[in-house]
Amino acid sequence: MKRFKGLSLLLSVLLVLSLGTLAFSQEKGVIEIFSWWTAGGEAEGLQALFDIYNRLYPDVEIINATVAGGAGAHAKAVLKTRMLGGDPPDTFQVHAGKELIDTWVKTGFMEPLTDLFESEGWVEVMPKGILDIVSYEGDYWSVPVNIHKANVLWYNKQIFADNGLNPPQTFDEFFEIADKLQEQGIIPFVLGTKDGWEAAHVFETVLIAKLGAEGYSGLWTGETKWSDPGVTEALETFKKMVTYVNPDHAAFTWDEAYEYIIDGKGAMSIMGDWVAGYFFSKEYTDFGWVPVPETAGIFDALSDSFGLPKGCKNRDNVINFLKVLGSKEGQEAFNLKKGSIPARTDINKDLFDDYQKSVMEDWEKDVIVPSVMHGAAAAEGWVTEFKDVIALFVARPDIEVTQKALVQVAERAGVAQ
Ligand code: GAL
Repeated sequence: MKRFKGLSLLLSVLLVLSLGTLAFSQEKGVIEIFSWWTAGGEAEGLQALFDIYNRLYPDVEIINATVAGGAGAHAKAVLKTRMLGGDPPDTFQVHAGKELIDTWVKTGFMEPLTDLFESEGWVEVMPKGILDIVSYEGDYWSVPVNIHKANVLWYNKQIFADNGLNPPQTFDEFFEIADKLQEQGIIPFVLGTKDGWEAAHVFETVLIAKLGAEGYSGLWTGETKWSDPGVTEALETFKKMVTYVNPDHAAFTWDEAYEYIIDGKGAMSIMGDWVAGYFFSKEYTDFGWVPVPETAGIFDALSDSFGLPKGCKNRDNVINFLKVLGSKEGQEAFNLKKGSIPARTDINKDLFDDYQKSVMEDWEKDVIVPSVMHGAAAAEGWVTEFKDVIALFVARPDIEVTQKALVQVAERAGVAQ
């Protein structure tokens, strides 16, 4: 009898324990995930992460809080209002680098994630260059989900073949090709400027071309002055490029403008490799790519990441989402759709498109520089002013006035000129 009692006690303890674990893995409630990923490729990448999360945590409802507008053109302002108003989303998209550290970490809005990085083994599988830009004072502050390359010139292969052209390696070649295409009634250089940041993106890559990796990086630290003749040259080059764009550029967002390439009406365009994701989503395969002229061997880099804001309502659900983001499965599923490459180095390269394989190689051998338009190089206030000055330049291309304005913007950002 005694033995029976002992056994049944043991059984009930085991039952309670197993129910306990079961209940523990059954996360409930909601998770609000804030981002600007609404365009083709971006939306599919995000959905791929949600699919994994839903499979693992079927009882948690995902609130997909997106604010459309590439580069966070509109999302960042909404995020700021919510964060300052004490209503943070559970987790939000933020660029690794200055945008993360200066805007949200130094100001005390985020929780460190160092324990998670260690328990999940991310410290071993993510490159130092990426770990560095999510670090501050010895802690890790957000989970990088990808690496994007920003200095890519995309082109319609058919148009190039039909006109016997090779993609340009220098700006002289770029302008020669542009003249030939214009004669054929083809838009030489496709641009959409509706959200106000796209021209600045292109200009950033021209700065890299004209100043080189070191000169460009120095712009954000004060080592290169904004009065540098290289900046003048970049403005001259960019001014000329704008004379070849589709006249209706102000009506289109970055992704809408790429319809010109897909339709065979436009030949070349400069943008980051979310464009690859966009092409995948449209099942368009006839695209070619080269580095932006005069930037071969340089990788203009950025990384999207998500963190844990202090005071978020569903902390445990966020931790689980971050685990998905940082996992091998999550990084593969997301990046296959997004056009970027995983931040983890232990992924299966064979799964990826030729374009992405080429970027994986570039990442290994190129000189890496931080993208300014996508939060890696400078604090948000500077980025905003920089983009506004360049947006104005497209409408009123006065080189002297613009260069002076860029000098003043840098000074206001606290970088002596
Ligand atoms: C970037 C972001 C990319 C891509 C792009 C266009 O700032 O890092 O993931 O979404 O904007 O929206």
